[in-house]
Amino acid sequence: MSKFLINGGKKLFGDLQITAAKNAYLPILAACVLCEDKITLHNYPYYSDTESMCKILSSLGALISCENGDLTVDASSLFSWGIKSELASQVRSSIFMLGALLGRFKKARVAYPGGCEIGARPIDIHLAGFRKLGVVVEEKHGFIQCDASNMHSGKILLEFPSVGATESLMMASVLTNGVTHILNAAKEPEIVDLQNFLVKMGAKIWGAGTGEIIVEGVKKLKGCDYDPIKDRIIAGTYLIATAMCGGDVTLYGVKPDHLGALIDKLDKTACNIEAKSDKIRVKASGKPIALGKIETSVYPGLPTDLQAQILALSTISEGSSMICENVFESRFKHVPELVKMGADVHVKDRVAFVRGVKKLYGASVTGMELRGTASLILAGLVAEGYTTVSGAKHIDRGYASIEKELSLIGADIKRVED
Ligand code: EPZ
Repeated sequence: MSKFLINGGKKLFGDLQITAAKNAYLPILAACVLCEDKITLHNYPYYSDTESMCKILSSLGALISCENGDLTVDASSLFSWGIKSELASQVRSSIFMLGALLGRFKKARVAYPGGCEIGARPIDIHLAGFRKLGVVVEEKHGFIQCDASNMHSGKILLEFPSVGATESLMMASVLTNGVTHILNAAKEPEIVDLQNFLVKMGAKIWGAGTGEIIVEGVKKLKGCDYDPIKDRIIAGTYLIATAMCGGDVTLYGVKPDHLGALIDKLDKTACNIEAKSDKIRVKASGKPIALGKIETSVYPGLPTDLQAQILALSTISEGSSMICENVFESRFKHVPELVKMGADVHVKDRVAFVRGVKKLYGASVTGMELRGTASLILAGLVAEGYTTVSGAKHIDRGYASIEKELSLIGADIKRVED
């Protein structure tokens, strides 16, 4: 098991090219199943979650290769529509495969998905949507078994703007005859990216990024090449790291309006931000002012995937903050570990009350899920002395090599084996 050894106190300076968005690449990989021609996806990011999705596609019979960052997926000769538990339980995104497999084969048998332990992660909204489209859904022995031989178009109102359910239902309906409306759809940039990819394959789909997505089914999709958007959460993580450590860092490739809520919150309080078309420059003294009340919400609100990183920033900000986690019910696992480092944080239900302290102290801490582990690394970057952060397997799900990227901008961080 590997962990990170961090010597805190360094300011951050330099440039970083942000890698492709994990949460765009995952549904796009699933959507490759809908097409019987070859597809090329550029700038493939080596996250363990994308690697898991490639394993799932290969287990169905897809031929996958990667050369110079270009991933080629040939799903012309799929021989299975079932995903076993050992693969499905690795990632949340295995649930997207349901929609893609129903679109392609009109049937699917997928084991329950895995994913970060940040709550119950139910799939009721996904399944309710499929049933609305006439899919017969059975849940038994740990599998979701679907018969979509009579699947039809229709109007679906999502109980909550679930990102995964929106994506699943988009994929299920692009090859279904008729016009399907998905209401109360999620509006994340990754949804828009999935729509753009499907349109490039010849799908007729509009409205992604608004609350209503309209899909007019087509007979067949054609092969294409596509370059998914860059990861706004990775960019947000490094923007917050700079606000905490102080310094001057420019992040390339990310679209500033994908991080609008974070930039609004941090600019002129924790740092100074210059946002251009596809780059963000952040300059900071390393003495952030507390952000006050922070509410995570669905896009375009403050992303839940940056809550843990913002909480780390708040622990060393001047003043008090109140961080409300409104999306997932159990996303404060990083708090006890931050307290070990000297943070002053109390959690009640879905709210973390943070009183900024002068400094954090290096300690041995353990990450329990992807973004919580990122927050512990950020805390280590500012803590006095050495911090070891266990749980590298969590961070590797969504960062290609966080230690290399942070070292590139001056952090003293190494990956060591246990
Ligand atoms: C996606 O998860 C992302 N994962 C998550 O990123 C992200 O935090 C989340 O969207 C919210 O933005 C991927 O895209 C692979 P949801 P997803 O369905 O689709 C409830 C990361 O760190 N819900 O929008 O699972 C659910 O419990 C990961 O990169 C139901 O109740 O999120 C949660 O409270 C973590 N029933 C809320 O909706 C359902 O059927 C939002 O979940 C589905 C969801």
